[in-house]
Amino acid sequence: MNSYRESIAEVLFDESRISAAIDEMAAAIARDFSGEPILVVGVLKGALFAFTDLVRAIARRPNGPSDLSVETIWASSYGNATRSSGEVQLRKDVAGSIRGRNVLLVDDIVDNGLTMQYLRELLVQRAPARLRTAALLEKPERRLVNVRLDYVGLRCPNAFVVGYGLDYRELYRNLPIIARLKPESFAPEN
Ligand code: IMP
Repeated sequence: MNSYRESIAEVLFDESRISAAIDEMAAAIARDFSGEPILVVGVLKGALFAFTDLVRAIARRPNGPSDLSVETIWASSYGNATRSSGEVQLRKDVAGSIRGRNVLLVDDIVDNGLTMQYLRELLVQRAPARLRTAALLEKPERRLVNVRLDYVGLRCPNAFVVGYGLDYRELYRNLPIIARLKPESFAPEN
């Protein structure tokens, strides 16, 4: 038995549910960008897993984009491990120009929405041909800003979740599932 199982209170989304959500998003994206080139930008670090699974799922679709390139951008927003400071920090930008290109921004989870809003506004200023946004998870109850989300995989309850790229203090990103942690798994200051 893996030790992480002892830290988990409840599995919210298992591997097959995550994979089905990724496939549904890929189908919609492939349809919308059929025959056109697309640049998929993954938001580090949390979206790494959703991003790589999503680009491969798009590639499996018939009649998808004509070409697909990948880039990454790194933004962080959390003041401490589970609560957002409300300030978004850009730690790594995309390389090269996005002017006149079709861009799909992929994040792991949209919580209060400030990170996605910040990144969307940053990229929109650079005049892409089309800018679409995707998030594997969203927590609608926690939204503070009404950011545009074109593709959403799963609706998440109002709880702090880990796994499939999402971390608590840099741990649990490697879990193949998305889960709630037991209260005793959080450090005392939380
Ligand atoms: P937002 O700016 O509040 O929408 O937060 C976006 C970022 O916060 C995400 O990209 C995640 O990195 C992180 N985040 C939000 N909710 C969770 C969670 O439940 N678990 C782990 N990270 C989260």
